Amino acid sequence: MYKPVNLAKDVFYVGVNDRRTHLFENMWPLERGVAYNSYLITDEKVALIDGVEIGQVERFLKKIRAVLGARPIDYLVINHMEPDHAGAIQILRELYPDMKLVGNKKTIPMIDGYFGFSDNCIEVDEGSKLELGNHTLQFFMIPMVHWPETMVTYLLEEQILFSADAFGSFGTLDGGIFDDEMDFDYFKDEMRRYYSNIVGKYGSPVRKALEKLATLDIKMIAATHGPVLRTHIAEVLDMYNRWSNYMGEEGVVIAYASMYGHTEEMAEVIAREIAEQGVRSIRMYDVSKTHPSYIISDIFKYNSLILGSPTYSNGLHPNLESLVNKLETIGIPQRNFGFFGNFTWAGAAVKRLQGFAETSGWKVVGVPVEEKHALKSSKYEACRELGRAMASVVKNGK
Ligand code: FEO
Repeated sequence: MYKPVNLAKDVFYVGVNDRRTHLFENMWPLERGVAYNSYLITDEKVALIDGVEIGQVERFLKKIRAVLGARPIDYLVINHMEPDHAGAIQILRELYPDMKLVGNKKTIPMIDGYFGFSDNCIEVDEGSKLELGNHTLQFFMIPMVHWPETMVTYLLEEQILFSADAFGSFGTLDGGIFDDEMDFDYFKDEMRRYYSNIVGKYGSPVRKALEKLATLDIKMIAATHGPVLRTHIAEVLDMYNRWSNYMGEEGVVIAYASMYGHTEEMAEVIAREIAEQGVRSIRMYDVSKTHPSYIISDIFKYNSLILGSPTYSNGLHPNLESLVNKLETIGIPQRNFGFFGNFTWAGAAVKRLQGFAETSGWKVVGVPVEEKHALKSSKYEACRELGRAMASVVKNGK
């Protein structure tokens, strides 16, 4: 059973789809699931590159056996120890007791910590090679993309890069495994949501990884999530270059919290003015409706952001506060930033957003607007002025 899926002769896809898990890392919505990709190379020695999440192990083993039959696995290459890939290590070791685990000096203590053993491990370093027969694996360290131990494995003869989480995406592989077997546009958005929320904080390590990988001839990128790339490689590398440098394209994200619609009304006025000034990419989000992962993904995409909140318990609305906290954690270095708020008896939201503006180092655009009770004409005009100021910066840089 299971017709093997070849990346090249003797190189197979043995990953699985997960459409049951609702939240990746128990945080990030998986509207269209996620794939845990794993790869098998058969030669004089057999190497398995990364594994899958423990709940998906049954189908994973079926796929491995469809290729190998009763033949054992000689090496399990562990590019990344996060349990969505390493969760099945214990079971694999029990099934293949002579299998050697291949990792680096940061991987092996993690194996010991998670599974309680460190024997039968092979430690590799930057540039180390592992010969399988006619195939040679070479290892390169890409720390913090996504964990400190993360590395990539390069199959020299086929120029395939097994890239761990780098270039990965949310979304299951619905029949198509390769990027030219599917509607790839969907994955570009989900790739950005994955990147921005999972590794977006680590722009500098990602840039270092990209510099290192630029020295390799790459015909195919086989990540641990999302499509195997063979047609869109240059486009994806360019996307990673822009995201890791936090380059936003022309456009404004307006994210607001609103309990009874007064803050939302201010957001609408600001948005209309920005549109009247000719900005065409405007994305509005009610933070109580849209999960922050989608908002953060668009904040990575566009160069400008406006946040608005009512005052709640002498601070921001908790859902807007949650978004601000996530932005503080990620630490995007540059964005054009405007803000506004609303209160009933004591204003604190705009003050908190002012504090966020100062710590983020972002360019504050326009004059923050703070209304008491319902929106009235003077603050209506102030919202329009904030919109005009933002449109001018987005379009003209000033
Ligand atoms: Fe897909 Fe960082 O694990």
